[in-house]
Amino acid sequence: MKAVVITEFGLPDVLKVQEKTIPIISSGEVLIRVMAAGVNRLDIYQRQGNYPAPQGVPRDIPGVEVAGVIEAMGDQVTQWKIGDKVCALVGGGGYADFVKVVAAHCLPVPDKFTFTEAASLPEGIFTVWSNVFMRGQLQEQENFLVHGGSSGIGITSIQLAKALGARVFATAGSQSKCAACESLGADLCVNYKEQDFEKSLASVGLDVILDMVGGDYFQKNINLLNPEGRLIYINAMQGRSVNLDILQVMRKRITISGSTLRSREDSYKTMLTSEIRRKVWPLLATGKFRAVVDRVFPMKQAAEAHRHMETSQHIGKIVLTN
Ligand SMILES: NC(=O)c1ccc[n+]([C@@H]2O[C@H](COP(=O)([O-])OP(=O)(O)OC[C@H]3O[C@@H](n4cnc5c(N)ncnc54)[C@H](OP(=O)(O)O)[C@@H]3O)[C@@H](O)[C@H]2O)c1
Repeated sequence: MKAVVITEFGLPDVLKVQEKTIPIISSGEVLIRVMAAGVNRLDIYQRQGNYPAPQGVPRDIPGVEVAGVIEAMGDQVTQWKIGDKVCALVGGGGYADFVKVVAAHCLPVPDKFTFTEAASLPEGIFTVWSNVFMRGQLQEQENFLVHGGSSGIGITSIQLAKALGARVFATAGSQSKCAACESLGADLCVNYKEQDFEKSLASVGLDVILDMVGGDYFQKNINLLNPEGRLIYINAMQGRSVNLDILQVMRKRITISGSTLRSREDSYKTMLTSEIRRKVWPLLATGKFRAVVDRVFPMKQAAEAHRHMETSQHIGKIVLTN
C-alpha cells in the first residue's frame, strides 16, 4: 500500500509517500480501506519528533483518525461486516491506504456525512467527550469556556456543549475565527489578540474551562472560575510551568485536571466509543452537530496540509483524502 511516512524528524517536507506493507489484523481488529484521514496538531508534534507514537502502532506513519470501508475482519468481530462504512480513532498510521484498528473503536459513518466529513470527527469528539463531559462534568445551564475556539477541538467543544444545553464562551485569534465560533453556537467569542479575555469574561462566572494554551492563561482561568469550577488541560502550547496559588484553589474548591487520549488503554477507548455512540451520534443525525472542514488535500500533499495547519489560519479541520 501507499502511506505518508515521516522519513526523519523535521519540517513538513520530511513527509514522503512510500510503499509499505498492509497491516496484518489480529483477533478483534478490522482493516479499514482509508478514504479520508483527519490532520491534527499532534501529527505535527509527531513529525517534529516531539510526540512519539505509542507501542503497537506504526511509529513513522502519522494519522489518528480516519473514515473508510471495512476491508477485512479478524476473529471475534461481530458488530461489523465487510463493506461497512466506518470512522475510527486509531493509534496511528491513518495517513495510508489501509489502517488496522480495534473493531470496538469504530463508529458508523453518520447518515449524510461524506467520508471527508466523517474523518474529521473522531479525535475531536473523543477528546472533548472524555475531557469536558466525563472529566469536567459539564452540566446543562452551566457556563463553559474553550480556548482555541476555532481549532478542531474548539469547534467540537462549542457544538457539543451548546447541543447539550450549556452557555458557551470561546477565545480565538481573529475576528473571522470569532465569527465562526459564534455561528457554531458560542454565545460570545473573545478575540484575544484585541481584548483581554479575562476582562471580557469577568462577569460570566465559568464552571468548566477547556484549555490547550497554558502559560499565562492559567492564572486568568483560575480567576474566571466559579466556586466548584473545573479547569481541564489537554495541552500547554504557550508553556507548561505555571505558578499556583493553592489558597485560591482551596477557597473556590477548584478541580484542576487534564489528560492525553492517544496513550490511553484500549479498554478506555472502547468504553468511550460506546458512550459516544449513545450520546453524541444521535446529535449528528439531528443536525445539531456538523463537520467543519476548512480544507481538503490529496493524501500525497500531506506536507502541504501540515504547512497549512502551521499557519494557524484554518477554522475547523483539515482532511487528507485518498
Ligand atoms: N490531550 C489530548 O488528548 C489532546 C487531543 C487532541 C488535541 N489536543 C490538543 O488540542 C489542541 C488543539 O488541537 P487541534 O488538532 O484541534 O489543533 P488546531 O486545529 O491546529 O488548532 C490549534 C489552534 O490553537 C490556537 N493557538 C493558541 N495558542 C497557540 C500556540 N501557542 N501555538 C499554536 N496555536 C495556538 C490557534 O488559533 P488562534 O488563532 O486562536 O490562536 C490554532 O489554530 C492542540 O494543542 C492539541 O495538541 C490534545
